[in-house]
Amino acid sequence: MGLGNYEQNLIKSIAENDIREARKWAVAALNADTTQKNKGFVTRYKNILTSEGAGMIELPGNLKDILVCEDVSLSFKENRYYVTERQEIIAKNIFRLAKVSGKLMELMIPYKNATLLYGPPGTGKTMFGKYIAYKMGLPFCYLNFSKVVDSYMGVTSRNIAQAFTYASTNPCVFMLDEVDTISCNRERTSSGADREIGRVTVTLMQEFDKLANDVVVIAATNRLDILDKAFVSRCSQKYEMPPFTVEESKQMVNKFLNDIGISIPDIEIDQIVQKNSDQRTIMADVIRLIADRLEVEDENS
Ligand SMILES: Nc1ncnc2c1ncn2[C@@H]1O[C@H](COP(=O)(O)OP(=O)(O)OP(=O)(O)O)[C@@H](O)[C@H]1O
Ligand SMILES: [Mg+2]
Repeated sequence: MGLGNYEQNLIKSIAENDIREARKWAVAALNADTTQKNKGFVTRYKNILTSEGAGMIELPGNLKDILVCEDVSLSFKENRYYVTERQEIIAKNIFRLAKVSGKLMELMIPYKNATLLYGPPGTGKTMFGKYIAYKMGLPFCYLNFSKVVDSYMGVTSRNIAQAFTYASTNPCVFMLDEVDTISCNRERTSSGADREIGRVTVTLMQEFDKLANDVVVIAATNRLDILDKAFVSRCSQKYEMPPFTVEESKQMVNKFLNDIGISIPDIEIDQIVQKNSDQRTIMADVIRLIADRLEVEDENS
């Protein structure tokens, strides 16, 4: 038997050192194998290849701790992601802006595609950033400012500049998370730490201004009230991400349950949704319930 389509493409992408493409063909080959004898193998390697973090892009050593870049094309589970009508509109606006800024780039006119998402914890800001990267077929680069500032006081400005330089070498969705960390009032700074944060804020603005048009920036914060005004004004679009309504939350839970093929009585879903105020705590409760149920099933079998 000669080499099939999947094997040929897999070999070709490995030879061309294109791991992203190789991963895609490996998953396609696994999906095509429905034999009983390979079931364990297929499940195991499909899980590994499509798990979150499987598509991590290797970064230079100095950036490893502060910037995360991921190919989300296989790890983002679209079938488990519920998109509200509002989010669909936001996504469309981001795609539209990407087209416009691409055209302006051809005319050598700098134009940022930058969207600021603000809202309470657990309302899907970070996940929405990944969804955009998935939909646009771009790598997801993630810079969390609270992490950068915590661990790198003193060298933060340099690290931020390096992270921006790296992220702008290729088109990507560049998520700037917890941007409020660096936004204390620049006029009233007194302590050394405050002054450092002031310097970091200036670096952020400078680096932001240098970004190429084809970098899609998504910034997220829980604290729009303390965010640096100069940064806010640089974002072309601003959207609140409020917690899902009860109806939206139920749809989110049902979409997830449908995909994993497990059902929970409506009354239990209602209780979970009523009890929690955001998507993170709702999903945590749903997963706890599923885990309990699987444990009972296991004991009974
Ligand atoms: N649209 C959605 N569909 C399915 N699950 C969702 C959705 N939005 C959020 N979730 C669930 O909620 C969790 C929290 O979402 P996410 O981390 O994006 O929130 P966040 O707004 O970034 O929170 P924080 O402000 O604390 O960083 C996700 O890991 C996921 O389980
Ligand atoms: Mg987040």
